[in-house]
Amino acid sequence: MRSIATRISLRAARAPVMAPAVTDVRFFSGGDLKLEEQKSSTNMKTFKIYRWDPDSGNKPSMDSYPVDLDECGPMVLDALLKIKNEQDPTLTFRRSCREGICGSCAMNIDGGNTLACLAYIDKDSPASTIYPLPHMYVIKDLVPDLNNIYDQYRSIEPWLQNDNTDPALKSGGDFKKEWLQTKEDRKKLDGMYECILCFCCTTSCPSYWWNADTYLGPAVLMQAYRWIADSRDSKTKERLEDLDDAFKLYRCHTIMNCSKTCPKHLNPGKAIAQIKKQITASH
Ligand code: SF4
Ligand code: SF4
Ligand code: FES
Repeated sequence: MRSIATRISLRAARAPVMAPAVTDVRFFSGGDLKLEEQKSSTNMKTFKIYRWDPDSGNKPSMDSYPVDLDECGPMVLDALLKIKNEQDPTLTFRRSCREGICGSCAMNIDGGNTLACLAYIDKDSPASTIYPLPHMYVIKDLVPDLNNIYDQYRSIEPWLQNDNTDPALKSGGDFKKEWLQTKEDRKKLDGMYECILCFCCTTSCPSYWWNADTYLGPAVLMQAYRWIADSRDSKTKERLEDLDDAFKLYRCHTIMNCSKTCPKHLNPGKAIAQIKKQITASH
């Protein structure tokens, strides 16, 4: 638990910083040193960010941070890093790759779930609001608790399973050589293997909001279908039987928020429809 003095000093650190005053700066031009005047920046934008620190005992709040866009990279993640570096080191969020690969910077920006590192700052609006992914328990600030989703992901056994006993292919349980797929079979995985498990889709799904304890949600279901569609996996029947459940799968009502929001332009709604189709065909 932080002391009162620490909390007060953190509050002070969080106070909005005023736009820089008119200053003289030096530019090199054609070898000549010129002294030019730089105007106060008029390109300021406010980021209103959800803050909650469970250790503070305080209720959640929306804190405002002004950012000079002339001094900031183009993405929302650039603004968050600038705020953390220059205004408030306690601001907490996940990020790693900063290029749409790791999936960790997923959050709700101006009402839509997306990746902060792929979202351009909207320069036409004076303010943006940033929340954690919706309908999730929050660990701190913009960091959602993903444990339930990872348990659900584990439940679909997301790895290649094959009971082939051909000694030319397998020795014990291990494959002895590269196992080839036809180009056509490989193509069936396109649009699914690219998923980075950011869970923008799952947390935009109304069915998941109300049934997160039982419904698997679009990201996990698309990964389930990624293994069902893989020609090298021989557990297709078992995988379909496991998903043939009123809650795990059939809470999806084809609202398609999931596919609309995916920052990688994937279509989990379509993958869910394919699972339903294959289950119907297998009855
Ligand atoms: S299509 Fe299904 S998974 Fe996607 S948002 Fe709608 S209910 Fe959720
Ligand atoms: S389908 Fe898209 S939104 Fe959903 S987890 Fe994968 S990359 Fe993220
Ligand atoms: S930081 Fe990795 S996806 Fe944004």
